[in-house]
Amino acid sequence: MQQDIPVWSETFETGIKAIDRDHKALFEEIGNLADALIKEQGPAEIEQAITCLETYVLEHFRREEGFMIQAGYPGTEEHLRKHRSLERKVKCLRGIHRGGSSDIDPLKLGRFLGNWLTGHILKTDMDYVPYLRGERDDQVPEQTALLNEVNVRVPANKRDVVERFVALLMSDDPMAHEITGLIETFESRLDDQEMAETRKLFCSDD
Ligand SMILES: [Fe+2]
Repeated sequence: MQQDIPVWSETFETGIKAIDRDHKALFEEIGNLADALIKEQGPAEIEQAITCLETYVLEHFRREEGFMIQAGYPGTEEHLRKHRSLERKVKCLRGIHRGGSSDIDPLKLGRFLGNWLTGHILKTDMDYVPYLRGERDDQVPEQTALLNEVNVRVPANKRDVVERFVALLMSDDPMAHEITGLIETFESRLDDQEMAETRKLFCSDD
């Protein structure tokens, strides 16, 4: 049964030690969670396995993102979107589990997460490797890589407050981090549609 769940192999080696170590650990965390579900361990054990996976996913993504930004990798933004999408699915998985659902299918879960990781490493991650190794000379300077032009049409009476808000967000004021955190918390509230999609990915069909 578990042989259906993808595991680490040398094919996934990027040659960047910290990344390879993380990827190996992620395969292990997925395996541990599938294992806890297969063995029908108690809710606390399953919750812990989800927490370990979620923590490692976040830690690894932030590390990888830091490397890409530092290297001026031009595909950083698109890559970040893929990370956020998986983060949301793992969060929904936690929501499904906390909601008392016992129909999370270990095989579906292991296959989806394992295949996601496999595909992500081979296609998306491998693309940044030459940049992280300094083998590409079309790197974009760090700031330019992250700066986008945003055009927003706002009512005249809101223009001033929007401009002040943007200036605050772009500043080093600790409040800017606080606001970003608040927005992220707001966005991470579990969305019904996303929960339903995640349920289809991870739960047994009935
Ligand atoms: Fe990645």
